[in-house]
Amino acid sequence: MLSHDEVTADTTARRVLHLHRGGTSVVIDLDVAPHPAIVHWGEELADSSEQTLHGLAVAALPQRVSGGLDEPARATLVTSQAAGWLGTPGLEGHRDGAAFSVRLELEDIRADDHQVRLSLVDREADLSAVLELRVGPSGLLHQRITLRNTGDSPYTVQSLHLAFPVPWDATEILDTTGRHLKERTPQRRPFTYGTHLRESRRGRPGADATLVLAAGRPGFGFERGRVHAVHVAWSGNHRLLAERSAAGEAVLAGGELFAPGEVILAPGASLTSPDVIGSWGDGLSELAHRFHDEWRRRPAHPVRPRPITLNTWEAVYFDHSLDRLTALADAAASVGVERFVLDDGWFLGRRDDTSGLGDWYVDATVWPDGLHPLVDHVVRRGMEFGLWVEPEMVNPDSDLARAHPDWILRARTTLPPSARQQQVLDLAHDDAYAYIAGRLHALLDEYPIAYLKWDHNRDLLDAGSGPQGVARVREHTLALYRLLDELKAAHPGLEIESCASGGARVDLGILARTDRIWTSDTLDPLDRLVNQRYTGLVVPPEMMGMHLTSPVVHSTGRTVDLDLSAAVALFGHVGIEWDLTATDEPTRSRIAAWVEYAKRIRPLVATGRTISVDDTEPGIDVRGVVAHDGTSAVFTLTQTDTTVAYPPGRVRIPGLDPGRRYRVSVVGGPTGTAGQSELAWQTHDITLTGRELDAVGLRPPVQYPQRSTVIELVAQS
Ligand code: DGJ
Repeated sequence: MLSHDEVTADTTARRVLHLHRGGTSVVIDLDVAPHPAIVHWGEELADSSEQTLHGLAVAALPQRVSGGLDEPARATLVTSQAAGWLGTPGLEGHRDGAAFSVRLELEDIRADDHQVRLSLVDREADLSAVLELRVGPSGLLHQRITLRNTGDSPYTVQSLHLAFPVPWDATEILDTTGRHLKERTPQRRPFTYGTHLRESRRGRPGADATLVLAAGRPGFGFERGRVHAVHVAWSGNHRLLAERSAAGEAVLAGGELFAPGEVILAPGASLTSPDVIGSWGDGLSELAHRFHDEWRRRPAHPVRPRPITLNTWEAVYFDHSLDRLTALADAAASVGVERFVLDDGWFLGRRDDTSGLGDWYVDATVWPDGLHPLVDHVVRRGMEFGLWVEPEMVNPDSDLARAHPDWILRARTTLPPSARQQQVLDLAHDDAYAYIAGRLHALLDEYPIAYLKWDHNRDLLDAGSGPQGVARVREHTLALYRLLDELKAAHPGLEIESCASGGARVDLGILARTDRIWTSDTLDPLDRLVNQRYTGLVVPPEMMGMHLTSPVVHSTGRTVDLDLSAAVALFGHVGIEWDLTATDEPTRSRIAAWVEYAKRIRPLVATGRTISVDDTEPGIDVRGVVAHDGTSAVFTLTQTDTTVAYPPGRVRIPGLDPGRRYRVSVVGGPTGTAGQSELAWQTHDITLTGRELDAVGLRPPVQYPQRSTVIELVAQS
C-alpha cells in the first residue's frame, strides 16, 4: 500500500472547469496530463465553489501502485498509449505505417459556463485538434473533435472516439439489438472488466444497432437508478464501447467507425467527428427526456400538429391503379386522415421489388397522366400528398444501372452481394448525385409533395468507389446529408421521413434533417410496445411513425384488436397502414373515433413527458405521457398476456404532480369483460393526488390478453 502523501500528481493548484446547464454538471480537471479528463458528469453540483471543484479533482487522483506506471493514466477525453492509457485508444493513426504514437497536449482553453473549446497539439506527431464540449439546454453533454494534419505527409486516421467517464458503481450495461421487424430490443449484461463493443458496419446504423450504450447502477429501470448513456449522432458506421479498467476507470465512448484507408488527411486537411452525445438520469425516462427536450427546442423541429397519415404500402403493395388508390384516398379522408402517402411502385418499371430503382420517372403504363389525377384527388379531399422514394438505391435491372454501371458502389470488379435485388448508388460521385438531386427536385417542382418517405432497404456492403477503389461509407453519408439539406432548403415546408426498412436508420444525425422515422416495419402492437419504448430513449414520440394495423398483422400473422393497435399508436406520430376500402362501416367509424382522439391528444404527445412504469406484473404494460405543466396525462393500461392475479393487483401511475388532485376517467367509457362486475373507480367519480397515484395506484381493469385501456387524468385545480 502506498501512503497518502505518495499521491503522484501535484494537487496544490489544479485548474478545474465547471460546465453546467439543464440540471447537468461536467467537472473537468484541466491539469491531467497530457490533456483534460472529466472527473464528474451527471447531477448538477449544488455547491460549485472553487473549494468543491478543486476537491473533486483531487478526490479523483489515483495513487501509484505496484506493477503500474509511475504516473497512473487517466481516462482523458482522447485516450492514448503515449499518455499511459492501456485500454482502447481514443485516436489511432499513422503515416504510411509509421509515426503511430499520439499524445495530444492541452494548448489553449476557451470556455463559458456551459461549453469549452480545448485546443490540443502533438508537435511530434504533427497533429492538432479542437475538442468541443457543450452542455445543452436540457443537460445533454455533446462532444465533438476536429483533428488536423499539420504535417507535410498524409495522415491515416484509423479510429477516433471520445470518452465519457461514468460512475464506478455503474455496473450494469443496457443496449439494444434486433433485426428487421424487431428493432431495438433491449439486452443487459454486467459491466465487468474489459471492453463491451457495439459496432455498426452496415453503412447505416441498421436494425440490430444500439441507439445508446447505457451503464447504470444494477437494476436501473425507467423510473429509478442512476444511469448514463452515449449516442453517436451519425448515420454511417459507428462504434460505441463500454470499458472498465483495473485502474479504476469506467468509460463509455463513441465515434464514427472507419474502413481501412477511409480517412487519409492530406497535409493541412482536417476531419470533424459527429456529435457524440451523453445523457444521464435517475432512471431511463429522465435520460430520455433530456434528448426529447433538447430536440424539441431546435428551430427545425416539426411543431405543427403531426398530420394523421395513411401510407398505402400494406393496403395495395405494388398493385397501383388510379381507381384503387382514389378509393383508398376517399376512405382515408372519411376517417379523418390528413396526409396520404403513395408508397413504392409508382416509377418506371417498378411492378415488383426486382426492378426500377433509380428510374425516378412516373411510370406511364400505370399512370398515363402522371400522378396528377391522384394528387389532385388527394388534395381535393383536403389531404397532403406524400411520396415514397429510395434515392440511394439502384436495381441492376434499371435504365440507370444499364447506363451508368460505374455509379454503383463496389470495391471489386463484381458487385457486392445483393439484398432485395438491389445495390447502392455512389452518392459521392458528382454525376450520380446530380442525377438523383435533379430527379427529386423535378418531382417536387411538378407535384405539390408535402412529404417524402425516404427509404433505404439494404446495407452498404463492401461499399467502394469502384474496383480497387476507396471506402465510401463516410462520403456517402455526407453526400446524403447534403442532399437532404439541399432539398429542405429548396422546398420550404417539405417534410421527410427516415424509413430504412422501418427503423434501420435511426440516429440524431439523420433526425437533424428529417421530421420523423418509420419506427419499424412491424405493425404488431405487442412487438411495437418494446420497439417504441426503447426507440424513445432518444427519439421524441412525435417523431416516431406509429400506424394502426389491419386486423391480421402482415409481419406476424397475429390477429389483433383495433383498440389495442390504436392505443399502442397513440403516443407517436399516428397513421394508418391498412386497406380501408375493405373495412365495413362500423369499423370505419371506430377508426374515425380513434383518429379524432389522436388529434385531440397530439399536442400533449408532442410536448409532454413520456412515462414508462417499472415493475408492473408480467403481462401488464403501463405507459403514458404527462403534460409539462402537470395539468393532464394520458396513460395506457395494456394487458399483453394473461396474469396470475385475477383480478390483477394495483398499478402505479407515476410522473404526475404529487401535490395536485386528478380526476381519472376511461377513454370511451367503462370497459368490461364478460363475467366481471364493473370496476369501481370507473363508475365512481374519484380523484387522487399525483402522490397517491404514484405510491398506491389503482386497479387495472380485467382485460383479455392483447387488449388495452386508455385512461385520462385531469388536474382539478
Ligand atoms: C420498406 C418500408 O419500410 C415499407 O414501409 C415500404 O415502404 C417498403 N420498403 C417499400 O418497398
